[in-house]
Amino acid sequence: MKTYKFELFTSEIEKNIRNGNYKPGFKLPSVRTLKEQYQTSISTIQHGYEYLMLQGLVESIPKSGYYVSNQPDRSDLTVNIKQRPVVRDAVFTNNLDQITSVKTERKLVSFNVAAPDDLMIPQKLILRTMQQVIREEGAGLLRYYPSGGSERLKETIIQRAISYQTILHPEELLITDGALQALYIALAAVCNTGDIVAVESPCVFSVLEVIRMLRLKVIEIPVVPVTGLDVDFLQKACHTNTVKAIVVTPNFHNPTGILLGDEQKKRLLSVALHYNIAIIENDIYGDLYFQGKRPATIKSFDDSGLVMIFSSYAKTLAPGIRLGWLAAGKFTERAEQIRFSLGSTVAPVYQETVNRLLSGNSYDRHLRTFRMQLAKNAYTAIHLLSEHFPVGTSIATPAGGYAIWVGMPEATNMEQFYKQCDQIGVKFTPGYTFSFSNTFSRYFRIVFANTFSPKRIEAIQLAGQWIR
Ligand SMILES: Cc1ncc(COP(=O)(O)O)c(C=O)c1O
Repeated sequence: MKTYKFELFTSEIEKNIRNGNYKPGFKLPSVRTLKEQYQTSISTIQHGYEYLMLQGLVESIPKSGYYVSNQPDRSDLTVNIKQRPVVRDAVFTNNLDQITSVKTERKLVSFNVAAPDDLMIPQKLILRTMQQVIREEGAGLLRYYPSGGSERLKETIIQRAISYQTILHPEELLITDGALQALYIALAAVCNTGDIVAVESPCVFSVLEVIRMLRLKVIEIPVVPVTGLDVDFLQKACHTNTVKAIVVTPNFHNPTGILLGDEQKKRLLSVALHYNIAIIENDIYGDLYFQGKRPATIKSFDDSGLVMIFSSYAKTLAPGIRLGWLAAGKFTERAEQIRFSLGSTVAPVYQETVNRLLSGNSYDRHLRTFRMQLAKNAYTAIHLLSEHFPVGTSIATPAGGYAIWVGMPEATNMEQFYKQCDQIGVKFTPGYTFSFSNTFSRYFRIVFANTFSPKRIEAIQLAGQWIR
């Protein structure tokens, strides 16, 4: 695995903090000292400290330096999930209209939409490329494209996936209207009404909504702190029930930001193979890692065809680019029929634009700065939450993606909390939207894919102060 230059000193500091040699409040060596000691550049040391801050281990005090952090308990993500797998109807126990129709006196500062703002997306790059495409392709963009998508685009997606050891075949690849349509097609290709699917718990509302619309039943599988999906629990669920599909986001799960390790990915795959269950792998955040290299996919370990994988460019380019893809493995024939029945394919102008961006090096260049910006935003959000929310708040440090999962102290009156957020004009995504079992009422999700303006910073400060 690729290592960063800064790991030479960050691993040493991390070790000392974790084994208690460096206590909270301990002043760490200055940037200049470390630069001399490790014979490296100032920016390498600064990146290293940013990485440690992101892990929640270190804090920076302006004009003073870096200190071992003294933050609220981050590890408590314990959730009240029954230890026995339970099959349930895909029905939300809360009225979710409330979360989409909140009235407020003040203009909203929203942290609830998993989309980057206009400043974070590479607007100029996308618009310029789109104009080039229109100029050069002309009327060709007005014709029907193949229902499964442009062959050129598929080839480009296949080439990119090879760089993270994921082998996709042109005949199994379908271009879709975003990731959610890919999920719909994948589920409909393996399940009939009333079938059982295993889902992560917590799981993002939009994914649950597709499951609900297809009238499936679910078994919620806990996502546990740090390591992610509880594969033992999954195994238990598959042993005692006829599970048709497992829907997972192993790379930077939404909302916890957890990255499932390769060993866990392989274990998950072996459970699926043992019980002959399709895996539907959501890789929408896979390119958005904050350190190390692009993580592997479950698909990269599979040669059975039981794993379907999908993604889109909504999170890495712009949400308005409605272009995703699905590699349907051994379910391709059925998936193609469903794709065809949903009408014509994605607008050719989007297909050609994305193809150009991916086949040159502009997408990768954009990703490098975008990831760094997201990692900084994540740190800012963690820092603000740690400082302004009450003791006992748990904060899951994301390894990538867009979201932080926050658990409020036991005694918090959440109804009151959301009422006060309304009055302040700040919006988070309530935890109860992340399961059908109302497991996460004490939690909320905060999205950090927006630039932190003074107004956004103030909004988090106020939300935390009101409940102290
Ligand atoms: C895990 C996950 N899957 C799918 C989607 C939706 O993706 P798309 O806009 O490409 O349909 C989202 C967006 O919030 C998401 O977080």
